[in-house]
Amino acid sequence: MKICILPGDGIGPEIVREAVRVLKALDLPMELEEGLIGGCAIDAYRDPFPEATRKLAQEADAILLGAVGGPQWDGNPRELRPERGLLAIRKELELFANLRPAVLYPELANASTLKPEVVSGLDLLIVRELTGDIYFGTPRGIERKGGERVGINTMIYRESEIRRIARVAFEAARKRRKKVCSIDKMNVLETTQLWRDVVSEVGREYPDVELSHMLVDNAAMQLVRNPKQFDVMLTGNMFGDILSDEAAMLTGSIGMLPSASLDEKGKGLYEPCHGSAPDIAGQGVANPLATILSVAMMLRYTFAREAEAQRIEAAVRKVLAQGLRTADIYENGTKKVGTQEMGDAVLAALA
Ligand code: IPM
Ligand code: MG
Repeated sequence: MKICILPGDGIGPEIVREAVRVLKALDLPMELEEGLIGGCAIDAYRDPFPEATRKLAQEADAILLGAVGGPQWDGNPRELRPERGLLAIRKELELFANLRPAVLYPELANASTLKPEVVSGLDLLIVRELTGDIYFGTPRGIERKGGERVGINTMIYRESEIRRIARVAFEAARKRRKKVCSIDKMNVLETTQLWRDVVSEVGREYPDVELSHMLVDNAAMQLVRNPKQFDVMLTGNMFGDILSDEAAMLTGSIGMLPSASLDEKGKGLYEPCHGSAPDIAGQGVANPLATILSVAMMLRYTFAREAEAQRIEAAVRKVLAQGLRTADIYENGTKKVGTQEMGDAVLAALA
C-alpha cells in the first residue's frame, strides 16, 4: 500500500496527523510519503501542485489530503491560488468520481439545525462528477467586449463523461437501497438535457435500480424538506459542489464527513469534505473524524479492506457513544476534547 500524504493548509496538518496515527495502528504493510499542496506549496515552490507532489501522487495507490486554502493567498492571481492545486490533482489524475456520503450518527441528531425526525437515520450518498462541467470547460475568462468586461465560463459534458459517472452511481446504489436520483436543470440547460438522456440510457442497464430525475432547484429544497427520500444522488460537478455542502449540514457538522475521489482503476484521493478552517488552525481544536473516516473510505475503495474500514467506523461510533465531542459538535452533557484527544480516543477504541 503506497500512500501519499498531503496535509495542506490550515487545520490540514493537525487532522491528517491523527488520521495517519489511525492508519499506522492498523499494522498493515504500507509506505507513506508526504508532500505539499495548496498554499504551503505556493510558499515553497510558487506552485499549488508542484512537480514533486505530482510525482508522489502519480506513484501512489492512494492519497490522503487534509485541506487547502487560507486568507493569506486570497489575493493571489488565479494560477497561484491554493484551490488550483486541488483542481489540478483531480484533473491530472482523472479522479472523476467523487463520493460524498452524508450519514447522521444517532448521537449527533441534536447537532443538526433540522428537526431530529427529519434527519434521524439519514444515510445518503452524493456521487459527484469531478473533472468536467463548468469547472474545466473552455472558453473561460474575463474579457473586454463592447467597452465593458465580460465574464465567461463554459458548461460542457461529453456523453462518455456522463456515462462513466452514471455507472459509478448505479453500482453504488446496488450496494445500498437501490435508488438513484439524478440531478439536472434540463428545463433550461442543454448540457443537462444530455445528462438526463444519457443517465436514462445507462439506467436501462440497471433494471434493479430505481432511477428518478430531479431539477437542481427542487433538489435543494427536497434536501431540507425530506432528505430521507434520497439514497444515491447523481450530480455534475457544480451542482454536486453546492448540494454536497447542503447535505453535509443536515448531519450537523461538516466536520464528520469524509469523501473519496476515484479514477477508473480504483486509485483514489481521500479527504474530508470540509475546508482548511484557518480561523481555528493551530489551536488543536479541529475535528479529525472526517479525515479519520476518509482513511476508512481509502481502505474500502482502493485497498478492498472492508474489515479494516468497518473497524475504523466502529471506533468512531464508539467514541461518539462515549460522549466525546470536538467543539464543532459539542453540546451540553458531552465532554469537549481537542484534536489529539479525539485521535487518542479513536486509537483506544480500535484496540
Ligand atoms: C469542494 C470544494 C472545491 C470545489 C474548491 C475548494 C475548489 O468546494 O471540494 O467541494 O469547488 O470542488
Ligand atoms: Mg465545495
